[in-house]
Amino acid sequence: MNVDGTPFRTIWLADDDWAVEIIDQTKLPHEFITVRLENLGDACMAIRDMWVRGAPLIGATAAYGMALSVHADSSDGALEAAYKALYATRPTAVNLRWALDEMKVLLAPLSANERKEAAYRRAAEICDEDVEICSSIGDNGKPLIEAAWEAKGKPSLADGGVNVLTHCNAGWLATVDWGTALAPIYKAHDAGIPVHVWVDETRPRNQGASLTSWELGKHGVPHTVIVDNVGGHLMQHGMVDLCITGTDRTTAAGDVCNKIGTYLKALAAHDNGVPFYVGLPGPTIDWTVDDGVADIPIEERGSTEVTEIMGRAPDGTVVPVQLTPDGAKAANFAFDVTPARLVTGLITERGVTEPSKPALAALYPGRA
Ligand code: MRU
Repeated sequence: MNVDGTPFRTIWLADDDWAVEIIDQTKLPHEFITVRLENLGDACMAIRDMWVRGAPLIGATAAYGMALSVHADSSDGALEAAYKALYATRPTAVNLRWALDEMKVLLAPLSANERKEAAYRRAAEICDEDVEICSSIGDNGKPLIEAAWEAKGKPSLADGGVNVLTHCNAGWLATVDWGTALAPIYKAHDAGIPVHVWVDETRPRNQGASLTSWELGKHGVPHTVIVDNVGGHLMQHGMVDLCITGTDRTTAAGDVCNKIGTYLKALAAHDNGVPFYVGLPGPTIDWTVDDGVADIPIEERGSTEVTEIMGRAPDGTVVPVQLTPDGAKAANFAFDVTPARLVTGLITERGVTEPSKPALAALYPGRA
């Protein structure tokens, strides 16, 4: 997507053809900074400390992390160590495991000499495939927005347009390009459909307020940031036509794990008859798990993400501000699981499907 007229992806090979560059997302929305990753340690830090984040981008960065490791040492031992180090960075987004497995299965049988070229080639392919997949999610999801708009009598933006609520950031910043939940929104907007987005701020790290708002703004999509507790009220008053979120791991039976708070939005949507859709690429499906609540590991992060908030001070510096009393205890569960029964449909690169084991198995034959 464009940043001030310049097309960007979230990850790319540097001009020297071996290092990798990313956008440091911890600095957004206040600064747009690109960072060079030169080794396995850099890649692990970028994922763990959320310079890159979002399930598909975590997978793409892990693939390039393997390539950077092979660039330095293409032995069997180094390959295994790189897999383990990257796998340990974040537990919930299953694209991480998927990308690492893709790389390992490809590289392990090759000789040490062959590995470097193959690793960079596959990492680049994973990125290109993600762009294609997300673009298709956009194409498949756009008709849902269009239909909701038509059902209202095609109001102009001034008359309310069509209103989509989203949670966290599942836009192009969470993927290599286009996004998952936001791809249908970008495609609808680009097609002239007057779409307005309610953006949940998404405490504690505020990916909605910081990232979704930034990228929608850069693309010119009308949107309004709301605090996390507003969605239910909006739905009760007919101000949300549909919800679209992303997911970090969806089970073979259609349970959706996504950023903490998604479940509450799905409950409110269900109670108010608002369709609740989830955009996802095939690699976000964990075919080894059926019951998301029981079997998906939920990341718990440091308590300072809850007790403090980052923001721009009047002098322009970006600083943490303490919110809670000294010594207050805080818990920081990063994800929750929305059971399939609360999900209206899954928007995939292969089409929109109901969230059920038979439907997903039919859409991805041979994978279940
Ligand atoms: O903790 P994050 O920022 O890596 O969480 C990922 C997300 O932004 C969301 O949960 C998103 O909706 C799914 S990833 C496309």
